[in-house]
Amino acid sequence: MRVIVTENYDEMSKIVAEMVLTTVQANPRATLGLATGSTPIGCYKLLKEFCRDKKMSFAKVSAVNLDEYVGLDKDDVQSYAYFMRRHLFDDVDIDGDNTFIPNGTAASLADECERYANLLQSYRRDLQILGLGGNGHIGFNEPNTPFDSVTHVVDLTPNTIADNSRLFGDVSEVPTRAITMGISEIMKAKKVVVLASGSGKARAVYNMIRGEITAACPASVLQRHPDCTAVLDKSAAALLN
Ligand code: GLP
Repeated sequence: MRVIVTENYDEMSKIVAEMVLTTVQANPRATLGLATGSTPIGCYKLLKEFCRDKKMSFAKVSAVNLDEYVGLDKDDVQSYAYFMRRHLFDDVDIDGDNTFIPNGTAASLADECERYANLLQSYRRDLQILGLGGNGHIGFNEPNTPFDSVTHVVDLTPNTIADNSRLFGDVSEVPTRAITMGISEIMKAKKVVVLASGSGKARAVYNMIRGEITAACPASVLQRHPDCTAVLDKSAAALLN
């Protein structure tokens, strides 16, 4: 895994946004794998600026998201579908028909997982952006998820529910389940970039990069990816040296 340590969040965001820019300039029809969470917001802000300044266009880009909460409608302000519109899609020239995210309110979650897994087979990601959970999760693949997993419904761990509760009014409002792209599907992206910022991620970053490759830290599987870059700010990288 290539590791880039930056001075701060803004520098981290700039490096990742430039990786997206290069990918789309090289292939205007690129498929991007996108993540939610607070970490990629700075990168998305820069992408909106690149688009506004006509440095890039999303007109032919496809975007495939990692995960969605079970039970939240796409118009719920806490849904990841809403997050993507608010932080990126509404301000770039992407075609809504080319954006994909699991449907957390599908009548049959099993059918929805199968539909999404099939979709992922037709949309191989040229670049997959990943955040990192404090417990080493990627997407919503919690510790001990098998590395050969495909899209599935997950029971979120108490840690993840507590971490994500900062974005909700109260911890009791955080959904306890989600649909997530599986680890084997994440690993099929041609290129992966994983971002982490802040000291709260330092232990997970260490386990991802220096730790044993184990399902106990899902992100450690990225050590096996042939083209993976970790872009970290100084605080997230603090335990590496
Ligand atoms: C959620 C998302 C992950 C994300 C993680 C970290 O659990 N499912 O994809 O990486 O949060 O979030 P943050 O970037 O806010 O720390």
